Amino acid sequence: MFFSLVLFTAEFLGLPLVPPFYGSHNANFEKGVNFAVGGATALERSFLEDRGIHFPYTNVSLGVQLNSFKESLPSICGSPSDCRDMIENALILMGEIGGNDYNYAFFVDKGIEEIKELMPLVITTISSAITELIGMGGRTFLVPGEFPVGCSVLYLTSHQTSNMEEYDPLTGCLKWLNKFGENHGEQLRAELNRLQKLYPHVNIIYADYYNALFHLYQEPAKFGFMNRPLSACCGAGGPYNYTVGRKCGTDIVESCDDPSKYVAWDGVHMTEAAYRLMAEGILNGPYAIPPFDWSCRSSGVKNSGSSDT
Ligand SMILES: *[C@@H]1O[C@H](CO)[C@@H](O)[C@H](O)[C@H]1NC(C)=O
Ligand SMILES: *[C@@H]1O[C@H](CO)[C@@H](O)[C@H](O)[C@H]1NC(C)=O
Repeated sequence: MFFSLVLFTAEFLGLPLVPPFYGSHNANFEKGVNFAVGGATALERSFLEDRGIHFPYTNVSLGVQLNSFKESLPSICGSPSDCRDMIENALILMGEIGGNDYNYAFFVDKGIEEIKELMPLVITTISSAITELIGMGGRTFLVPGEFPVGCSVLYLTSHQTSNMEEYDPLTGCLKWLNKFGENHGEQLRAELNRLQKLYPHVNIIYADYYNALFHLYQEPAKFGFMNRPLSACCGAGGPYNYTVGRKCGTDIVESCDDPSKYVAWDGVHMTEAAYRLMAEGILNGPYAIPPFDWSCRSSGVKNSGSSDT
């Protein structure tokens, strides 16, 4: 989820695509660097495992990513003062992170109350990482909240119910799960406000992924999507075109004819059409809080991205 938005953000800013750090050798990070890892958590793996939240995916937590960043600074930017300069001038996209912590807890059937207890811990972890980067010179942060998981194919499938009261009549999304995503957003925003007061010289922008995506489900026709775009474009059947064990990307599953009519790509990720609208809603629209100020864009951000200095 994270990765596609990075692409659209880079494209919008007139920057080249941001190369991933992990798995790249001798890469050139002049144009930015992406420390995202598929399946990464905010909290340490051992911490989640101790709470019975086991997962077979990566152990690269936010802390591990931050350490990799610090260790690789000399090769990215050279001397400590050059690195401070670089960090001061960087747009730091902090996340989306935390969603997988919750996903893994849901996958092992933890109750919603227990999962909610993770929220302040996830948010403190994000906040500490921001504070650490501020100490290293960081000045501009874009910090995303969570997705409306109650509209996600995976959750709609796994938490399907005959109790129609659990569904939002307009969108067909699961209300209690969306409430969870909104809750995370509220708590994160409160923490970001606290940080903003503590560090008035820093710009901390909240990226409201929740509403940037949710409004596509509320008014799908307006954006060229099909009515009730809740099923996956690439799937092998089931009420939301998602079948466990027959996932998109395996040779038996093909994609739909026109992905631009779909919000959901494979049950977990969104389509490019949806990510593009989300990115636009954040960079140009009302889903960045406070909104971006592009008044210096043509002389500032855009040129520095397209010239080789
Ligand atoms: C993560 O896993 C890799 C390989 O499985 C291991 O080498 C590494 O030490 C682990 N790192 C942490 C922080 O647990
Ligand atoms: C489910 O995915 C397949 C591709 O595997 C696609 O052809 C089909 O139209 C999708 N079904 C729905 C209901 O969206």
